[in-house]
Amino acid sequence: MKFFIDTADTDQIRHAAAIGVLDGVTTNPSLIAKSGRRFKDVIVEICELVDGPVSAEVTALETEAMLDEGREYASWADNVIIKLPLTPDGLKACKTLSDEGVGTNVTLCFSTNQALLAARAGASYISPFIGRLDDLGHEGMDVIAEIVGAYENYPDIDTEVLVASIRHPRHVTEAALLGADVATVPPAVIDKMFKHPMTDIGLEKFLADWENVPSSE
Ligand code: G3P
Repeated sequence: MKFFIDTADTDQIRHAAAIGVLDGVTTNPSLIAKSGRRFKDVIVEICELVDGPVSAEVTALETEAMLDEGREYASWADNVIIKLPLTPDGLKACKTLSDEGVGTNVTLCFSTNQALLAARAGASYISPFIGRLDDLGHEGMDVIAEIVGAYENYPDIDTEVLVASIRHPRHVTEAALLGADVATVPPAVIDKMFKHPMTDIGLEKFLADWENVPSSE
């Protein structure tokens, strides 16, 4: 499974990229607003930090305006892909951009039927929002299981399942067990994925024991 980071904070992206485990970046209007920076500046900087796909989301609601935004964002860097909402206008724009060879990420997906429509529109990625379904009392991961299973029935579908709205490390594990293609993980959850108390205890013990090894001189 590939790992994307779900943030527009370039310091956090730089940190994760330096570890070497980063395959791409997802942003959304809320994350861009949180960065406090101009949209283009942030996206261009992120694209210089990572080689993989960087999602830049349109804010227009109608197809033609989405296409204007999408084509402009795609001109900023080779690895920009266009994030579009799962609406009829969004899927129409997705189809056109896909036909033009522009990568797309269809977002705000909450059901298998929506994911099937996005695949028909040629989406490069479909982003089901797991945490927001959990927030409503649903089992968000059930939607991932359904989408992965449904896509597997149709080998011509090459849309990748990108698990979004991840809230904790267990979401990442479950996404991998279900065969999702990508998890986009917030920086705080990436940090938690590294941690295990037994790793810290084990390392401390190894270093303490190392003190008792006679020096070679
Ligand atoms: O980028 C989309 C996404 O992952 C949203 O997450 O936590 O705002 O539901 P969240």
